[in-house]
Amino acid sequence: MSKNKIVIANWKMKLTLAESKKLAQDVKEKFTNFSEDEVVICPNFLSICEVNNIIQGSTIGLGAQDVFWEELGAYSGEVSASMLKEAGCKYVIIGHSERRKFLMENYEMIHKELKAVLAVENMVPIVCIGENWDERKTDRRDYVLFEQLQQALTGIEVKDNQEIIVAYEPIWAIGSGTAIEPAEADYAHKIIRLTLNDMFGEDVVENNFKIIYGGSINKDNVVGFNGLDNIDGLLVGVASLNPDEFLHVANKILKK
Ligand code: PGA
Repeated sequence: MSKNKIVIANWKMKLTLAESKKLAQDVKEKFTNFSEDEVVICPNFLSICEVNNIIQGSTIGLGAQDVFWEELGAYSGEVSASMLKEAGCKYVIIGHSERRKFLMENYEMIHKELKAVLAVENMVPIVCIGENWDERKTDRRDYVLFEQLQQALTGIEVKDNQEIIVAYEPIWAIGSGTAIEPAEADYAHKIIRLTLNDMFGEDVVENNFKIIYGGSINKDNVVGFNGLDNIDGLLVGVASLNPDEFLHVANKILKK
């Protein structure tokens, strides 16, 4: 259980192109002490190419916040996985709850996006799952996680060196300023791991999957998420927009 951990920044639609370039520069200057792809940043589509140029020569990985499931064609407004790779991305967030809420993305679409990303060599999908407040309140969390995993991942073939990241993001914790209790996250991750074990077998899950937590992680609460058995990293929103706070978060999770 000594997996390399990962800390991923989701900048969402919170920065202009100029602000994204500035933050990328700051991150490049401050994050000099990490191994390749331990820290990943996900700017908006518009900023990806410029940010990619800026982080050249650093160990910082690059990701996108969404992808379309087709490769090429008449799909106005969409971007494919191979286009993202060409622009410098290795990682892609899939099915973020904000897209499920505002753009009606569902797990059928998420499944297709996942397959499209897996079809491009060396790309790593970050599949988001997580219950809403009502589901948690009525004790349906475990079932919801099980069902979302089934819908997103059933029928997926995991190649030997393929990496897949599952991000557990309880919807009610995202952007709320309050993360869930680390012990609850650890337990939810255990449910996710057991479900994946059932679907893919323990060895595949151990070697090919990471399960990370996202939802209001910040400099004050991150310490509780370090050293937990089932947490392989973090997906960070608001706190990743401040390079010093994000560095603190990354240090707490990635450094002993
Ligand atoms: P947050 O966002 O850290 O601002 O809650 C996390 C996410 O949505 O990935």
